[in-house]
Amino acid sequence: MDFFSHLPEPYRVRVIEPVKRTTREYREKVIAESGMNPFLLSSEDVFIDLLSDSGTGAVTQNMQAAMMKGDEAYSGSRSYYILKDTVQEIFGYQYTIPTHQGRGAEQIYIPVLIRKREKEKGLDRKKMVVFSNYFFDTTQGLSQINGCTICNVYEKYAFDISVNSDFKGNFDLDVLEEKINEVGAENVPFIVATITSNSTGGQPVSIGNLKGMYQIAQKYDIPVVMDSARFAENAYFIQQRESGYQNVSIENITLEAYKYADILAMSAKKDAMVPIGGLLCIKDDSYLDVFTECQTLCVALEGFPTYGGLEGGAMERIAAGLHDGMNQDWLAYRIAQIQYLVNGLEAIGVSCQQAGGHAAYVDAGALLPHIPAEQFPALALACELYKVAGIRAMGIDSFLQGRDPRTGKQLPCPAELLRLAIPRATYTQSHMDYVIDSFLHVKNNSKNIRGLTFTYEPEVLRHFTAKLREI
Ligand code: F0G
Repeated sequence: MDFFSHLPEPYRVRVIEPVKRTTREYREKVIAESGMNPFLLSSEDVFIDLLSDSGTGAVTQNMQAAMMKGDEAYSGSRSYYILKDTVQEIFGYQYTIPTHQGRGAEQIYIPVLIRKREKEKGLDRKKMVVFSNYFFDTTQGLSQINGCTICNVYEKYAFDISVNSDFKGNFDLDVLEEKINEVGAENVPFIVATITSNSTGGQPVSIGNLKGMYQIAQKYDIPVVMDSARFAENAYFIQQRESGYQNVSIENITLEAYKYADILAMSAKKDAMVPIGGLLCIKDDSYLDVFTECQTLCVALEGFPTYGGLEGGAMERIAAGLHDGMNQDWLAYRIAQIQYLVNGLEAIGVSCQQAGGHAAYVDAGALLPHIPAEQFPALALACELYKVAGIRAMGIDSFLQGRDPRTGKQLPCPAELLRLAIPRATYTQSHMDYVIDSFLHVKNNSKNIRGLTFTYEPEVLRHFTAKLREI
């Protein structure tokens, strides 16, 4: 960084989307009308939108240009082959199915892998357990809808905010193997490696850990799926932190990481930088039967398997975005921007999970100790942040975790975190300073922030539509 205090944005902005500031009085009214649920706000009423980094970022010139070259043929489009060849080049995977987004890939591979176990081994899916370093909500939800139990096997300090460690997204490999033996390996239809681990704070997984996990999977004949939304950020952390990778390119680290999986599922809305799109890819012929079954299910759920849920131009745009998302300078800037935000928050006494890939995760439980978990401190903090500054964010917390469908009891949650997700190349350092200033105001008033209670609570995926009021 030579003599500069921070890395400036490595791009010029060419298109402007105006946003407006509103009054506190107006924001108090609309958040109350939205049932104290930021998901129900209109984006017109949001000044800085940190709800998600998914499909919300800027696109590159290359991506815009590629979009114009779309071949919209119903089957076998040229754009499909460009995407397929790009996947082969970047990840080394032979077979590709485009999907409309990440969960489009999940709704195909999850039932296919479960059915494969049922058919081949005559097993009951009710006894099946799937493992991950940490399942993203939709991966968890679709596994459960398909009859399996889920089990997260993360490192024990993953949610301990006081612990800093290079690869907090890692699997606990001992626990993974122990649990596989407990349930019986034949009852494990797949393992999901989520890189980076969104739910533990955008924390990376090391090559060493992926390798160890894959050895265990192979020993017990269990297919491994790489949940690849933030693959490039993960590769950047490996380059910066894992011994032996300092002089290896993001491209070569990515190629190596994907040796330790059999199937790639991707929400292309993150590191591939597109507003919409996803991928489901199979490494080689060892799971050719899975590819064939997935193609069939794709026809019914997403579209003909050479377009999935996507138009030709969108497939070209993913191909370009996969390359641009791996740019070394871009990744260095992006990770530095998250670190800048976390440093700024910590400096004013707002404690955060150590800086990860795509977001800052504020410890809302620590900031609002007078609000118990069942009154949702992270959601209360989100509402206060919106009232104070028009900033929108979401909790990775008890509110999101929901209830056990069998007992109706609130599921325990390892931490009450507020996620400030940073859309790609969209907000500047000045916006980050504004967020930090807003937190100072929120912190000084924190004792007056009240917990929340439901006025309407849906049974599943409640965080999207629930309504609450202040206690
Ligand atoms: N896997 C991970 C790790 C994710 O973070 C997401 C989405 C998905 C799968 C599903 O992909 O949205 O394209 O269907 N995460 C978004 C977020 C929604 O805000 O973190 P999708």
